[in-house]
Amino acid sequence: MPALVLVGAQWGDEGKGKATDLLGGSVDYVVRYQGGNNAGHTVVIGDQKYALHLLPSGILSPECVPVIGNGVVIDPAVLFQELDALIDRGVDVSKLVISANAHLITPYHRTIDKVSERFLGKNRIGTTGRGIGPTYADKINRIGVRVQDLFDPGILAQKVEGALRDRNQMLVKIYNRRAIAAEAIVEEYLGYAERLRPYVADTSLLLNNALDEGKVVLLEGGQGTLLDVDHGTYPFVTSSNPTAGGACSGSGIGPTRITRSIGILKAYTTRVGAGPFPTELFDEDGEALRRIGGEYGVTTGRDRRCGWFDAPIARYAARVNGLTDFFLTKLDVLTGWKQIPVCVAYEVDGVRHDELPMTQTDFHHAKPVYEFLPGWDEDISKARDFADLPDTAQAYVRRLEELSGAPISAIGVGQDRNATIQIRSFL
Ligand code: GDP
Ligand code: IMO
Ligand code: MG
Repeated sequence: MPALVLVGAQWGDEGKGKATDLLGGSVDYVVRYQGGNNAGHTVVIGDQKYALHLLPSGILSPECVPVIGNGVVIDPAVLFQELDALIDRGVDVSKLVISANAHLITPYHRTIDKVSERFLGKNRIGTTGRGIGPTYADKINRIGVRVQDLFDPGILAQKVEGALRDRNQMLVKIYNRRAIAAEAIVEEYLGYAERLRPYVADTSLLLNNALDEGKVVLLEGGQGTLLDVDHGTYPFVTSSNPTAGGACSGSGIGPTRITRSIGILKAYTTRVGAGPFPTELFDEDGEALRRIGGEYGVTTGRDRRCGWFDAPIARYAARVNGLTDFFLTKLDVLTGWKQIPVCVAYEVDGVRHDELPMTQTDFHHAKPVYEFLPGWDEDISKARDFADLPDTAQAYVRRLEELSGAPISAIGVGQDRNATIQIRSFL
């Protein structure tokens, strides 16, 4: 039986949390495979609203096992805060499983994230300040601290001291900050060990055994395709691989296990933080998208930058993730516009580009080529069948599908998990 991967097709915040939660009741495992508490996934179930950062959105479905895979970076204090908040609301979190190989975010990673952003000045990336980039940097530099190190105090002390030796030089001499004492961090982190221990397992073995037994595994991406460190708008990206390829390395299952790759695609475009964004709007339409779509960051509270739908980006996401399906979200937000511009290509220095330009320099200069589609005024939030949508909304979806390189199998028409038109099943 299959593993499915669910990825953001744009710059994050496409509605992955809602889509994952929707599938949570029909799958056996939901796995986060990269990122950390830079993510903010909102799930609305009836009158209850949940904001998840580190935990897989499947944690809200009692039937499924939520897993934090080896590719995730974990801030233990944040993990426990998030677990406690859910426990207070009556959510059963006891099934959570955490990889022993996942890396730990420590206070020095958070400090380095913040001071290095400050030093970048106007070139700053606009990170979430959660220590994500420095933790992945230590992982690649082979000086990271992993979950399993908490269970060996000698090794933990050795690793923290080793990492801080040059980190402290950097903090003091380059960034003009105080050195961080290794002992305090070791003591704090050993304090997390006992509470963490019952959750920790070899998650790659667990997931492969589950797949062998015919169980269904959903791999839930954080961030989005264009925030991918390899395939995104580098350097304005996150420090992991949210794209479908990252789901294998970040969970320890092989690519032959994945039978479905679902791209979550907003009916318009948003971005948080710095970096190029060809269809960005600076006028009242952008303001209206932000207001009607509630486009304010779940993690940092920042206004999200808003713009029209960008088809070359959707096609790119279909290509690099090998998408079999799109889940088009937030179609309801577009209700009320007389006509809706859709970017079908770019113009760069007088030359038309139907695909994303090869270089970042060209992407920074890309001007959208728009096609204008007729809008609709009817409230579509109660639609549950494609045929319930007004003709012009149907035509909008069909045109997006033609332009985007994979079938649109579901459409979101509201925040609630039920506010969905399912055209084809994902399972
Ligand atoms: P994620 O990071 O991809 O999980 O997305 P976020 O949760 O950061 O942002 C998506 C927002 O849109 C959340 O507030 C969702 O509740 C909301 N949302 C998701 N799908 C829909 C939809 O189809 N319509 C509307 N109106 N809101 C939606
Ligand atoms: P979800 O999962 C939108 C952005 C940050 C910044 C860049 C790097 O909710 O879609 P980082 O802290 O990761 O080093 O910041 O990535 N970013 C996100 N933008 N949604 C997210 O997550 C994001 N996670 C990181 O704003 O531009
Ligand atoms: Mg989000």
